[in-house]
Amino acid sequence: MKRKALIIYSSLSGNTETIVNAFARTFEKYDWEVTLQKITARSKYPQDKIYFDDYDIVCMGAPILAGLPYTKFSEFMGLYKPESGRFFKGDQFGSPEAAAKKRGILFTTYAGGIAGPQECIATLNVLKVYMDLQNIPTVGYFACAGREVRHTAVDGLAQALGILVDEAATYVMTYVQDPDNALFADFDEKKLQLLKEAAADERHFGHDVMVYTTVDGVEMKGSTMWHYDLMNRPNERDITNAENFIANIVEDYFFTVDGEPRKASGVYYSIS
Ligand SMILES: Cc1cc2nc3c(=O)[nH]c(=O)nc-3n(C[C@H](O)[C@H](O)[C@H](O)COP(=O)(O)O)c2cc1C
Repeated sequence: MKRKALIIYSSLSGNTETIVNAFARTFEKYDWEVTLQKITARSKYPQDKIYFDDYDIVCMGAPILAGLPYTKFSEFMGLYKPESGRFFKGDQFGSPEAAAKKRGILFTTYAGGIAGPQECIATLNVLKVYMDLQNIPTVGYFACAGREVRHTAVDGLAQALGILVDEAATYVMTYVQDPDNALFADFDEKKLQLLKEAAADERHFGHDVMVYTTVDGVEMKGSTMWHYDLMNRPNERDITNAENFIANIVEDYFFTVDGEPRKASGVYYSIS
């Protein structure tokens, strides 16, 4: 019987999805069956139900928006609702016995500003709470930098409409891909105009390109942010990191004599 991985995630501008695809490809190389569940602003809990029972590994990931995981992902995880967190058949949360056999992986993509990897730790910790609520032991954390797009416009729209940055990001990123999306059905003309202007404004933090010469005389071009090459992330190395990260976990946890996953006492980190 094939091993099964579930990857439940959000991605507004595609960076996190690039990592999801690298994860999925790697699982498939080991002949695992992969299920992708993308959580968008239109996903509804509990209507779009998904159960964790059927999977050996559950991966959960979301980009950072304004310091924490994208709120639509958090909402879907059901943590603010009266019927919260029913991701196992029949149980409110994963029964410790059923969940203990599974292994959890958490991931994010983030810009890092001038603080760097420190920026992603809080988000990974919040995602860990969602995994803990299902009683699934987390054995891996992955994060890499992700190009920031339309940040300035999103912040401006949030301010103009008096809404959360996350919500403004949902509107702007959705509008860019699909201006006729039902999400905008009840927008009046003024709101639509503001949205249209925001979608046309591609400025973002970290766009300022700095040119400098190193002591070795090499001319460097990059962003002024922690990740000098932020505008090209995730890059090939991030993708290779993601592939190796999953390969390590699959081989080390599941290549066992009796087929049972190894004890969840070892945790793998790949953060860049
Ligand atoms: C409106 C907005 C707010 C953001 N806030 C943060 C933040 O607080 N910290 C951070 O490290 N990155 C932040 N980012 C950067 C994103 O986390 C990063 O670009 C991520 O890779 C986006 O993932 P996605 O393409 O899957 O949506 C922000 C990006 C946008 C557009």
